[in-house]
Amino acid sequence: MEDYLYKRMIYIGKNRIHYSEIDSTNSELKRIYSTEEITEGTLLTTNFQSSGQGQRGESWESAPGANFLGTYLLTPNINPREVFVLNIIASLAVKETIAELTQSEVSIKWPNDIIVNGAKIAGILVDNKIISSKIVTSFIGIGLNINQLEFSDFPRSATSIRKLIHKKVKNESVTQKLNFHIQQFYSLYNLKGFETLNFLYHQNLYLKGESQFYEVETGTKKFTLQSVNKEGCLQLFNNSGEIEVFGIKEITFLK
Ligand code: BTN
Repeated sequence: MEDYLYKRMIYIGKNRIHYSEIDSTNSELKRIYSTEEITEGTLLTTNFQSSGQGQRGESWESAPGANFLGTYLLTPNINPREVFVLNIIASLAVKETIAELTQSEVSIKWPNDIIVNGAKIAGILVDNKIISSKIVTSFIGIGLNINQLEFSDFPRSATSIRKLIHKKVKNESVTQKLNFHIQQFYSLYNLKGFETLNFLYHQNLYLKGESQFYEVETGTKKFTLQSVNKEGCLQLFNNSGEIEVFGIKEITFLK
């Protein structure tokens, strides 16, 4: 029992690695992990990424020193079929951090973009390595716009905490809040399991229940967003009331 408790005490962000500049925090944490033992909950941050990675092979641009750029290491004991819960934990933690600082309504755009007033404020890139049928090594990369005011390199509408509250915010105080909320939702998952976290995720899901146009392989189609399944695929109702299921590379939001 004591041994079990000892093993489950994970302090998110207590072990911290920081670089003034690196190619990508996800890549660097993976490199370190492949050569030395690092504790679960380790956070690697940087002021600037020369080759920041986004979803779908896109890049992630961020002004030097302005924002949170970091990757957490988690090594949960989970069924590999439930790995999407790691995206859920990260999304809820980022959402909660932003809501606390801005008092705005924050939503999660599938799979894990964080949106305020229709503009993107944070992006999450989760890289999982399935070690065995029960252990997953997860590198959770988060880019959260804190003090950046101009977003000329951004292909879609973007915002930051500073743009929302008209005040400069200390990056480190945002990091502390983020660590706390990752710890909180990770503990909640360990205590209550997938369904509780999944429920919270769906309560904050962008466009849930709304009818909108999407780009799919067959062209532009109208759907009503229904839910995200356990594997992390998007489920929507088409015009005939049938459910269609899409993976991340198979559908693009038009709103
Ligand atoms: C997205 O496309 O929305 C995901 C963006 C994820 C960006 C973060 S910044 C820190 C970490 N390191 C990376 O190279 N990418 C993630």
